[in-house]
Amino acid sequence: MTTRPLQDRHFRKLNYLRISVTDRCNLRCIYCVPRETLPRLAHTDILRYEEILRIVRIGVALGIDKIRITGGEPLVRKGLMDFLHQLQAINGIREVNLTTNAVLVGPFLEELHAAGVRRLNISLDTLRRERFARLAGQDCFDQVWDNILRAFDLGFAPLKINVVAMQGINDDELTEIAALTRQQPFQVRFIEYMPMGNPQLPNDPFISNEDVRRRIASLGNLEPVARGANDGPAERYRLAGAIGEIGFISPRTQHFCGDCNRLRLTASGHLRPCLLSDRELDIKAPLRRGADDRELTDMFIRAARAKPSRHQLGAECGQPVASQMNSIGG
Ligand code: GTP
Ligand code: 5AD
Ligand code: SF4
Repeated sequence: MTTRPLQDRHFRKLNYLRISVTDRCNLRCIYCVPRETLPRLAHTDILRYEEILRIVRIGVALGIDKIRITGGEPLVRKGLMDFLHQLQAINGIREVNLTTNAVLVGPFLEELHAAGVRRLNISLDTLRRERFARLAGQDCFDQVWDNILRAFDLGFAPLKINVVAMQGINDDELTEIAALTRQQPFQVRFIEYMPMGNPQLPNDPFISNEDVRRRIASLGNLEPVARGANDGPAERYRLAGAIGEIGFISPRTQHFCGDCNRLRLTASGHLRPCLLSDRELDIKAPLRRGADDRELTDMFIRAARAKPSRHQLGAECGQPVASQMNSIGG
């Protein structure tokens, strides 16, 4: 069995696998859920946990050592905690992280910590309760906020708060959200909206992060924070004297593809080389046919080879992506 680390045609080492464990979600965020209700995956079409673990073991032999669990909302899937323990126990896995909307996470925080999860990324696009209910389809702001504070108290760090900045939707409170970092130790990240699938939003609400920076300039200078070895796509800054950080994830104006180290495994069992390209390789079919490790290893190698040098989505929207965000997990 080869143990040569996965590398794509552009010499990028791929050591990070984002696993979407479900396409289901308890919320309906306007930037994520499609305009028309699409059929959800049937239970039998979703990879079973044992199947994901087998795929991960193959990936680990090829150098995958960092995993992020995504959805939909991962916590709507039963048995997630046991699965996380099993993932963490795989020799060679350095980190298992989770991206969540934090509505359901409360009762699981202690166990997540015990399972070794440290990096929680949480979506929160507004600090206004009624607006939250409108944007996410459920009145859960208080619950999310409590869970964020509890997660911090329990030692989850870094705690990243994902804010999709949207014109006419939450742009009037970006300064307030950025100012949170003065008192709270979070990394607040402003994300440029990526149009995907069949978006609910009639017009592209895109605001560039340069624009976001102009809007929050009244808070004072942003001092750059040195990049860490584990940093993903965010550029990191800090307001003078602040305890938290501000990050900018700018896929449309400053694509960060040159440093991309990611592959994705979708809930339906496809390896997706790039978030913003619809090309996927079905790994579930060979797995269920009884493929041996060599054949599955080859699927990873083919996925790595299929990874484009960069995506084509620009400020002007460019080439549309057909897949829905909620089935890939961002
Ligand atoms: P870590 O680096 O592990 O903390 O993850 P992250 O910050 O990339 O993950 P998270 O799930 O919090 O995603 C934050 C935002 O970045 C979301 O809008 C994702 O869709 C986006 N994102 C994550 N990875 C990529 C990527 O490879 N390409 C693009 N274009 N966007 C990405
Ligand atoms: N554009 C940009 N970011 C998005 N997310 C979900 N949909 C979009 C989109 N269309 C982000 C959410 C979530 C993360 C996984 O992806 O902020 O936290
Ligand atoms: Fe659910 Fe996350 Fe999509 Fe919101 S962004 S609908 S929380 S998967």
